[in-house]
Amino acid sequence: PAPGWSIEADVVVVGSGVAGLTAALRCAAAGRRTVVVTKARLDDGSTRWAQGGIAAALGKGDTPEQHLDDTLVAGAGLCDEEAVRTLVTEGPDAVHRLIRSGARFDTAPGSEEIALTREGGHHRRRIAHAGGDATGAEISRALVEAVRAAGLRTIENALVLDLLTDADGHTSGVTLHVMGEGQHDGVGAVHAPAVVLATGGMGQVFSATTNPAVSTGDGVALALRAGAEVSDLEFVQFHPTVLYLGPEAEGQQPLISEAVRGEGAHLVDAAGTRFMVGQHELAELAPRDIVAKAIMRRAHEQGVEHMYLDGRHFGAQMWESRFPTILAACRSHDIDPVTEPIPVAPAAHYASGGVRTDLRGRTTVPGLYACGEVACTGVHGANRLASNSLLEGLVFAERIAADIAARPAPEPAGARAAGSAPASAPRTPLPLLAPEARGAVQRIMTAGAGVLRSAESLARAAAELESIRREAAEASAARATHKAPEPGVEAWEATNLLCVARVLVAAAQRRTETRGCHWREDHPERDDASWRRHFRITLDADRA
Ligand code: SIN
Repeated sequence: PAPGWSIEADVVVVGSGVAGLTAALRCAAAGRRTVVVTKARLDDGSTRWAQGGIAAALGKGDTPEQHLDDTLVAGAGLCDEEAVRTLVTEGPDAVHRLIRSGARFDTAPGSEEIALTREGGHHRRRIAHAGGDATGAEISRALVEAVRAAGLRTIENALVLDLLTDADGHTSGVTLHVMGEGQHDGVGAVHAPAVVLATGGMGQVFSATTNPAVSTGDGVALALRAGAEVSDLEFVQFHPTVLYLGPEAEGQQPLISEAVRGEGAHLVDAAGTRFMVGQHELAELAPRDIVAKAIMRRAHEQGVEHMYLDGRHFGAQMWESRFPTILAACRSHDIDPVTEPIPVAPAAHYASGGVRTDLRGRTTVPGLYACGEVACTGVHGANRLASNSLLEGLVFAERIAADIAARPAPEPAGARAAGSAPASAPRTPLPLLAPEARGAVQRIMTAGAGVLRSAESLARAAAELESIRREAAEASAARATHKAPEPGVEAWEATNLLCVARVLVAAAQRRTETRGCHWREDHPERDDASWRRHFRITLDADRA
């Protein structure tokens, strides 16, 4: 639809988690007119749900080099070592800047020092946390307050639709669908020569996920439609310990943080046997893919749907002080971790891949940046190390702001418009899906491209997704008929989910090996000779 209103800025940041708000604050501090647009309220994204914490070499005896080693091991041969080195060396200072922005982390009893915990794949206590198990909520609170105090312009309830580009292919802004925000209601545009995508993940592509309902892959879909390269979408991380609420459970599921295992809880089967001991030197604290795989294997062997996490030995006081969020979530489902083991199973958690960027956060489309979960900076490789994601959002958002600030100040809008062609429409518009297609896409993906994949399951998923696309294309060709869906946020979200699902399945079909969090039952071994490489994918017109 044609934009009904427009505003001008130097930078538009799309998304309001740790990455988006950090980028926005730093761009504004550098004197750039910055607008933040976000799909729901400022604190509604994934950051708020992060429990365990933020990893950085902050403790005595820890070093960025050790953090680098653990990250590379978890990444299973596909990390970009320079990107990881950037993350771990700039990480500690970035955390201290976050603290200066107002975030309050837990401290060790009787001391000013930040308390550090452990999580899977870390050989040291390296995870800073806040409010016990509410780290993301505290970071979100601090950044939202800082954005408000700085008087940044924000537009909430704004779903980003497409990138606008000049005739020379340079970014010139985004179109948005805004609901209920006064003068910026309906479809409009923010014109800006720099766009920072910080839209978060795509967990909603699966039926059960730890991600909130807003995580529908909008940024990756936008970038694909704009011709940007994406990479590593096949590496979807399934968190090993998500509260198991039955086979029919759908949508966002309660996370049981790795930090619970970091503090000594045991994974046990129905007979009470600890099955991680002897499987890996770190037992329950092995990297996430290994723990998730062991849970699935044991469950298959025993013909059950889940395992248990046993933290009864913590006692009531520790549960209440250290894990209040998790305790409340379990109790709200009539499970009391103080007196009984928690039923857990893996669920979709994190997209290790995304829009490919360089170390300055630049994508392959000039003027388009990406940071946070939507980006693929190369730090996660085939499997993200626990609690590296908040850190990545911080570090690379700051780098993007530095890159934007180092560019000459943008020309006034009038001069820009005179010197270049009007913004173009996206190159490869997708047929709009009916909102109901969301559930169908999720079920197809869970059945065919979930924790365990094979050529057969993936081919089935690809065919079923294609038939959804074909039907939507036919309905859209016959727009006059009652079949064509009404444009609206839910229809666009379903369309974005289909777009990212198709690319994810294609990448998973191509990677005929098991590596990191991509598990092919028909190719159970890692194959370094053929597959120690990345797929760089763009969306060609005929795949739209
Ligand atoms: C958790 O608390 O287990 C999640 C941490 C993460 O995903 O990095």
